[in-house]
Amino acid sequence: MRVVMASDHAGFFLKETIKELVCRIGHEVNDVGTYSADESADYPDFSRKAADLIVSGEADRGILICGTGIGMSISANKTPGIYAALCFNEFMARMSRLHNASNVLVMGSRTMGMDVAAAVTEAWLAAEPEEGRHAARRAKIVALEESLKRGDDGNSGYDRVKVLEHPLIQHKMSIVRDKNTSVKDFRDLVQEIAGLMVYEISRNLQLEEISVETPICKTKAFSLAGKKLAVVPVLRAGLGMVEGILRLIPNAKVGHVGLYRNPETLLPVEYYCKLPNDISERDIFVVDPMLATGGSASVCISNIKRLGGVRVTLVSLIAAPEGIRKVLADHPEVNIFTAALDSGLNDHGYIVPGLGDAGDRLFGTK
Ligand code: RB5
Repeated sequence: MRVVMASDHAGFFLKETIKELVCRIGHEVNDVGTYSADESADYPDFSRKAADLIVSGEADRGILICGTGIGMSISANKTPGIYAALCFNEFMARMSRLHNASNVLVMGSRTMGMDVAAAVTEAWLAAEPEEGRHAARRAKIVALEESLKRGDDGNSGYDRVKVLEHPLIQHKMSIVRDKNTSVKDFRDLVQEIAGLMVYEISRNLQLEEISVETPICKTKAFSLAGKKLAVVPVLRAGLGMVEGILRLIPNAKVGHVGLYRNPETLLPVEYYCKLPNDISERDIFVVDPMLATGGSASVCISNIKRLGGVRVTLVSLIAAPEGIRKVLADHPEVNIFTAALDSGLNDHGYIVPGLGDAGDRLFGTK
C-alpha cells in the first residue's frame, strides 16, 4: 500500500518512528514533511499536501501527526474525500477502519507514547471496512459532501434508500456472494431473497376490512386493499427475482424491460418493453439484482414513467453508491430497497465485493 505521511515540528520524531514501522510492515511511504523538529511548521500546510495525494490517487492512505492530533484532523477533514480519524488506542483505530473507512490516521505525539502509537498504526493498517449498515452510513457522508459541493439543501435523498438487514436475507446473501455456490443454489436463493425482501417492503400495504365465514362463525378479517401491483424485471438478471415475488403476491402483473449497452456511447438502449395496460394504477417493483452504475435502472424507470407508471420502487440485491446516486438524481421520488450496499465499482463496472455477473450466475452462461 502507498502511505503518505506528514507531521508538523511537534510530530516530527513520532513520524520518523512510525515511518520505519510502516516500511518494515512492507508498505511504501511517501514522507511529505516536515523534515525537522527545530523549525516551527504549520500543520495545515502538511495535512494539505498529504490530503491532495490521497484524493488524486497517488497515495492509498495517510498518517498525520501533530502535538495533539487535533489540528491535523481538523485541517485534513476539510478536504472532500478525506476521512481522517484521530485515534488514541487500537480499538479506535480498528473501528475507524471497520465502520468509518477512515483513509487517514491521525495521532498526537504529546498525547500518546511510542508503543501505543505503533500498536495503533498496526491495527489501523491491517483493518478493512465492513459492508452492510456501515457502508450505508458512509454513503450518507459521501452524499452530504456531494450536496455541499453542489450547494443544495443537503437533502441527498438517502432517506429513500433502505438496506434490508433481516438475518435471513443476510445469511442467504452470504451464500449467493460465494463464487463456489452452484447455479441451481444461486437461482433458488435469489428467488428466496427476492421474496423475503418483498415481504419486508410490503409491510405498509393498505388493508381493508372484510367479512369471512369460518367453519364456526362469521368474523371480520383483513384483506389487501387494491392489490394492484406490477413486477418489472430488467432483462435478463431481473428475471431471477420474479418467481420469488410472485410466490408471495401471486396476483401481481409482470412487465418486462430489455436493455442493451450501445457499444459506442456505452449508454443503455431499450430493445424490449411490455408493461401491463393499467400500469398507471399499479405500485411497480422494478427488479434488478445489481444496481451498479444505475444507468439501466434509471432508463428502465424513465420508460415506465413515460408509459404512465407513477409509483415506482426499485429492488436490488446489491447496490453500489454510484448506482444509488444516479437513480436518486434522475428519479427523486423513487424508493430503493437493497439487501446490501457495497463499496463501489471496479474498472470493469462490477460491484465490489458484489457477487460477479448475476445474469451469468443465474443462467450458467459462464
Ligand atoms: C504545535 O505546537 C501544536 O499546536 C500542534 O502540533 C498541534 O497540537 C495542533 O493541533
